[in-house]
Amino acid sequence: MIVVSGIQPTGKPHLGNYLGAIRNYVKLQDEAHANGGQCLIFLADLHALSMPHDPADLHASTLEMVATLVACGLDPAKCVLFNQAQVPQHAELQWLLTGTARMGWLNRMTQWKDKAGKNREGQSVALFTYPVLQAADVLIYQATHVPVGEDQKQHLELARDIAQKFNNDFANEDAPVFTLPEPYIPEEAARIMSLRDGSRKMSKSEPSDMSRINLTDDADTMAQKIKKAKTDPEPLPSEVAGLAERPEALNLVSIYAALAETTPDAVLAEFGGEGFGKFKPAMADLCVAKLGPIRDRFVELKEDREALDAILARGALQARELATPTLDSAYQALGLVRGRPA
Ligand code: TYM
Repeated sequence: MIVVSGIQPTGKPHLGNYLGAIRNYVKLQDEAHANGGQCLIFLADLHALSMPHDPADLHASTLEMVATLVACGLDPAKCVLFNQAQVPQHAELQWLLTGTARMGWLNRMTQWKDKAGKNREGQSVALFTYPVLQAADVLIYQATHVPVGEDQKQHLELARDIAQKFNNDFANEDAPVFTLPEPYIPEEAARIMSLRDGSRKMSKSEPSDMSRINLTDDADTMAQKIKKAKTDPEPLPSEVAGLAERPEALNLVSIYAALAETTPDAVLAEFGGEGFGKFKPAMADLCVAKLGPIRDRFVELKEDREALDAILARGALQARELATPTLDSAYQALGLVRGRPA
């Protein structure tokens, strides 16, 4: 079991990141540790270059993201925690894979289409080739499990296509260079939506902070955001089928279920027939109970920048070592000549 996943250190991590991905990083870290496997979680700082960014902010938010991940339960003694920029093998393998990835495949990526919109000509090349770097991120460690939210599923399918084509074109059938990674997507909470618009994903890049609950929000802010969350005037139904045309209500019930580690039907069995005047305060209490301790740990950890830098430096050393054999095999498979350093 080799678990690999990444998160961009831009903006503040939010409830969608937590329920869709981070909670599963921790679960799979523990499973891998117990079974003699490996878990690598990294900050995708190289990916952050695909959009305009402020260099001064990037280092600070990278450290804040490490503090958040540790506060959520990632343990540097059980998993390799690092940032891409300190492990140049990711960028190196990406270049090797750009020979295999096809323009047509990248053109079909919905994230590229959404982010580029009508202005494709004005986008960075990095935004277009972004999924190739993401493929390199997981293939370089022979990842078997990749915990992500649903929005990353298409990128992982692309990683599988690249791995498959590379193996077909350059490796013997009995000695593939790359393992085909499997996405690990939670059943509930695969796609948490904005608190202001049930048709949009909760996102770090959404301008309104009221659209998301940040893991670093204090209890009052969380309660305030839930109180102001968009809803409709109807009471809650007693079964999920009754939420079909009510995206905002469905989102809140799904968040509640994911936080309480139960199903939306069980939540509706409790709250069916009630209005949001009763549901929202209960949801705010649950949110504060589950996320409050994470926030408290985060506040403590984020001050110690030296300790956070040290976690990344140690993780990078381990990651570089783990990345080397696959990178070497890829160079060799492609017939690239590399002299060994003396
Ligand atoms: P990023 O930084 O946008 O998000 C990190 C993780 O959080 C999940 N996520 C969500 N899940 C449910 N509901 C939401 N509203 C929501 N928003 C975000 C994402 O699916 C993701 O798992 N391209 C990636 C980073 C990356 C990566 C990788 C991931 C780079 N290389 C290799 C996996 C493997 C990204 O931008 O995630």
